[in-house]
Amino acid sequence: MSGTSLDGIDVALVEKRSDTDSIALIAANTMPFPAGLVKQIKHFSAYPDNVNLIDLGALNIALGEAFADAVQRLLETQSISAEHIHAIGSHGQTLFHAPDHDFPFSMQLGEPSVIAQRTGITTVADFRQRDLAAGGQGAPLVPAFHHALFHSVDEQRIIVNIGGISNITLLSRDAERAVIGFDTGPGNGLLDSWYQQHHTGNFDENGQWAAAGKVNPTLLDDMLSEPYFSQIAPKSTGKEYFNQAWLNHYLNKYNDISNQDIQTTLTALTAHTIALSIQTYITTDTVLYICGGGAHNAYLLALLQKALPTLLIKTTEALGLSPDSVEACAFAWLAAQTMANKPGNLPSVTGATDSVVLGGIYPA
Ligand SMILES: Nc1ncnc2c1ncn2[C@@H]1O[C@H](COP(=O)(O)OP(=O)(O)O)[C@@H](O)[C@H]1O
Ligand SMILES: [Mg+2]
Repeated sequence: MSGTSLDGIDVALVEKRSDTDSIALIAANTMPFPAGLVKQIKHFSAYPDNVNLIDLGALNIALGEAFADAVQRLLETQSISAEHIHAIGSHGQTLFHAPDHDFPFSMQLGEPSVIAQRTGITTVADFRQRDLAAGGQGAPLVPAFHHALFHSVDEQRIIVNIGGISNITLLSRDAERAVIGFDTGPGNGLLDSWYQQHHTGNFDENGQWAAAGKVNPTLLDDMLSEPYFSQIAPKSTGKEYFNQAWLNHYLNKYNDISNQDIQTTLTALTAHTIALSIQTYITTDTVLYICGGGAHNAYLLALLQKALPTLLIKTTEALGLSPDSVEACAFAWLAAQTMANKPGNLPSVTGATDSVVLGGIYPA
């Protein structure tokens, strides 16, 4: 799994018994992207109109090699050989997500043929296309896994995944109630982008820079007027929409806000859009569990708690799964669904007409 943050390739080694819906995490690792690939991916995402077909074709293969490498390195550290692995679930690197195009598509690169050939392991990939073909958004896909792993009859749970983009899953105590889930909007993506323009690091560690600034309420309200935030689900979004150009559209109207206060306001934007998305679902027995890299941003979590003062907020660590491994585990689980010829999407979440078996299988 590698999300839009481009912070690394997450690999999870997971055990799944066919008689249970659950999984157990055996080992996990995050590998750095080979130098050069991140720059190229960022360039393609920022200038989709100027993509060179030859470069794009080569990037697809280079990413496949990188993903295969990441799998092999984890297996080496665990001293496990390929024949013990039933399948790899490879999400791929999203270059462009366009569920509302006349011909809806979601483009993930990282050639699965290369992964299967290099590792000798059957590879399941291209999970989003089939849901799109069935009229869905192709996203988010993690809610089915959240339901399988985290549903509880004792409390209502909301899982919030804060990656480059944020998405939520509402798990009612009643297991038969349709799962609600959608992308809420920006997660860490805008925070990283702004931080990288003003610092040498990749992200605002613990949200420290933002925490020492001030929220600008005018800018915050202005950004909150973005129509996506009040749009009714099913909905999904990505970096092709919530990016620097989106931010510039708002910032261009102001010239007296410090760079630091902009970081603070962007952190508040992520917190507020998540809070607005879930506040109507909160009951007295609701507990919120955070996963994704945003779980490490203490200031972001403090702002979320401030926006939802009565809500109990934890991370998925409290449910026994590290917030850094949830998404990678989700794609292992989705691969297992596909290998068992079972559906992976939730029509109540993506808006698809049907539950469908997701992805393509590339045999070992
Ligand atoms: N210690 C930390 N402090 C603040 N933010 C963090 C920290 N660790 C990770 N993050 C944020 O999480 C992001 C990675 O989150 P991740 O869930 O991997 O997103 P994606 O799925 O988009 O790759 C980083 O780019 C960064 O913004
Ligand atoms: Mg990541």
